[in-house]
Amino acid sequence: MAATQLPFQTSSSSFSKPLRHSLTRNPFSQNPILPLRPASLKPLVLRAVVSQNPSKSLTQDPQTTPFKHCFSKSSDGFLYCEGLKVQEVIDSVERRPFYLYSKPQITRNVEAYKEALEGLSSVIGYAIKANNNYKILEHLRQLGCGAVLVSGNELRLALRAGFDPTKCIFNGNGKLLEDLVLAAQEGVFINVDSEFDLENIVAAARIAGKRVNVLLRINPDVDPQVHPYVATGNKNSKFGIRNEKLQWFLDAVKAHPNELKLVGAHCHLGSTITKVDIFRDAAVLMVKYIDEIRSQGFQVDYLNIGGGLGIDYYHAGAVLPTPRDLIDTVRDVVQSQGLNLIIEPGRSLIANSCCLVNRVTGVKTNGTKNFIVIDGSMAELIRPSLYDAYQSWFLLLHLMLRFLLLMWLALFVSLRIS
Ligand SMILES: Cc1ncc(COP(=O)(O)O)c(C=O)c1O
Repeated sequence: MAATQLPFQTSSSSFSKPLRHSLTRNPFSQNPILPLRPASLKPLVLRAVVSQNPSKSLTQDPQTTPFKHCFSKSSDGFLYCEGLKVQEVIDSVERRPFYLYSKPQITRNVEAYKEALEGLSSVIGYAIKANNNYKILEHLRQLGCGAVLVSGNELRLALRAGFDPTKCIFNGNGKLLEDLVLAAQEGVFINVDSEFDLENIVAAARIAGKRVNVLLRINPDVDPQVHPYVATGNKNSKFGIRNEKLQWFLDAVKAHPNELKLVGAHCHLGSTITKVDIFRDAAVLMVKYIDEIRSQGFQVDYLNIGGGLGIDYYHAGAVLPTPRDLIDTVRDVVQSQGLNLIIEPGRSLIANSCCLVNRVTGVKTNGTKNFIVIDGSMAELIRPSLYDAYQSWFLLLHLMLRFLLLMWLALFVSLRIS
């Protein structure tokens, strides 16, 4: 188990190679290298609705394969992690608060995906944004994962952690030219997100002197039925390209055979998805796009269906789809087309392996509200305060007694004052 978040220096990265251009902007863009005009559009008007009968697409009953958790509350009232009393960890560490991770749980999570993917040619690209702890990255790399990156820093971090660049995918709608150049030099796959992004990737390929393997990030316009903040695959999304624009992008790739090699298509519907039939809807649509792409002479071998599998936030015994449920819904679609499957799990690989351990600092009352003050803050965990996300919490027994004592004292003091 690891009980730290390691700081990581990126400024002195050995991967920053000197370049002749300042790269604050695309040096080629004075003379636009792409015909940024509506190309001869051959509209592919495909749109999905959510499957009406999810059970048809599931080949295994999700009720039979619940995810295992490494944290459990014992009858003595204490929290245990892999059989270790969390209180004992608290007593042994010097600095608080801290994140406590279970390495075996991370391994089990990866194994669950690997087992689900058996028989398929695949890449598990861990979405580094879910947790960029360096030790965790090294562990995931040792387990054979690739990495999904959304910034230059994540790219440098992944390279430093030793990820195989050909198992890395550089995503995002605002990728910087200098980072694209690094990705091109290292042979990382790059997702094309927009017209200007494609222009920058072409420029990066020229500067790096390398032909770049690219995937087109297409919005299949499937409603993932999740919080709007984490729904990213619909037609108004800030990510990816509208499916109606596919032909323009195919023409642009054809116009740059020395710079771009189109190897696949990508989509990411959103996060916290709990109905796996949505992934099937998306895969079916994506395969239609791939058919269209192949019919124009491209040899595309990769289908990237992104991340997004939901997790057990509430710890209330909900039965959620497992990696096997997810993969089994798309298996036949992928196999029938002879595609390599890329998946990009983030939270489902890491979230259940970790807890933030805080201590109660004191209790205070303002107005009609009582506050339990702890030594952790939004600096350590921003989600609940950022967008009201639910956070499961657990009060250890002796801390609870301490808390009750403090509450009693506060009440006693306020009675004496009044
Ligand atoms: C492109 C992409 N891939 C993968 C992920 C990881 O998603 P999740 O953590 O829901 O698995 C994200 C999350 O935002 C993403 O944007």
